[in-house]
Amino acid sequence: MWRYRELIPVPDDAEVVSLSEGGTPLIPLKNPGGGGDGNLYLKFEGSNPTGSFKDRGMTVAVTMAKYLGAEVVACASTGNTSASAAAYAARAGLKSLVFLPRGGVAKGKLAQAILHGASLLMIDGSFDDALRKLLQISQKHAIYVVNSLNPWRIEGQKTLAFEIADEVGVPDWVILPVGNGGNISAIWKGFKELESFGLIEKLPKLAGVQAEGASPLVKAFNSGKEEPEFVDKPETIASAIRIGKPVNWRRALRAVRESGGVMVSVTDEEILKAQKQLARTYGIGVEPASAASFAGYLKLLEEGAIQNENKVVLVGTGHALKDPDTSASHEVMTYTVHDLEEFLNGGD
Ligand code: F0G
Repeated sequence: MWRYRELIPVPDDAEVVSLSEGGTPLIPLKNPGGGGDGNLYLKFEGSNPTGSFKDRGMTVAVTMAKYLGAEVVACASTGNTSASAAAYAARAGLKSLVFLPRGGVAKGKLAQAILHGASLLMIDGSFDDALRKLLQISQKHAIYVVNSLNPWRIEGQKTLAFEIADEVGVPDWVILPVGNGGNISAIWKGFKELESFGLIEKLPKLAGVQAEGASPLVKAFNSGKEEPEFVDKPETIASAIRIGKPVNWRRALRAVRESGGVMVSVTDEEILKAQKQLARTYGIGVEPASAASFAGYLKLLEEGAIQNENKVVLVGTGHALKDPDTSASHEVMTYTVHDLEEFLNGGD
């Protein structure tokens, strides 16, 4: 993604901390509604170095942390940000400190934070509680916060829009899961910049997808309310987006409204079904939060908000290996060798 360096306003003398993130595959999908083939794509952010889109933002945030002389980078996280922060901090020779909701982080992500040498702070409560604690502590101590309220994160994540525009031009729709609302704001910023430089002539509509049990922005959007009512105890199988008080709510809602897009919620059942369909029909393994993109697409198609012939890019934000417990929870055929041989022999 650093091939877009001219559009990322880091100082010229900053030494870039990179793991060669970005440049992720844009995978064509056969349209599940039939027809309109060649119009549906999934941008597979799971193929970033730590397995999620967070790396695009983290490379810039940690580059700036180093440039500014920070020694410790810190974040609160539902998992992916912590995995990414830990890896990039290690790369930069910095320490990392991650605040995690106890019991709320999928195994793969926790393993990565540990592997890359982060110090862990387990918080009893939700992600929102963990972020609140971190922000309190960061007022008093010299730690560099790399959550998505750090504007450098957004500068890196906007490159997702640049890549999409380079690869397929401007789609009619970009659909992505929303937790804190950082990524949807970043993608919008990316497309708007391309437009302001005269590099593209139209903008896509954005569809932000939240899980039903953690959907304050969907409710605010649909009721036309300016301010969301936050959710105290967010609940969903998609732990990455189990967030009740999205810090970037204002920017996220503005992005969706400006784009003429929509916010939509999906149930856990729909998320799991979409995860299975992506994995078993298309061969693409994403974590539950990312499957929300596809679940949201199916819902919007059914509701008629999106047509089969629209050009649509789904953002597959994280890899299926991030949450091995959920990946392995889908139904599976198992045989004993004896049963298998009988089956293959056509016995009963
Ligand atoms: N998808 C995945 C896989 C995520 O990990 C996240 C956020 C999102 C979507 C939502 O993105 O917050 O920019 O709206 N994960 C954060 C974390 C909260 O700590 O890893 P957003």
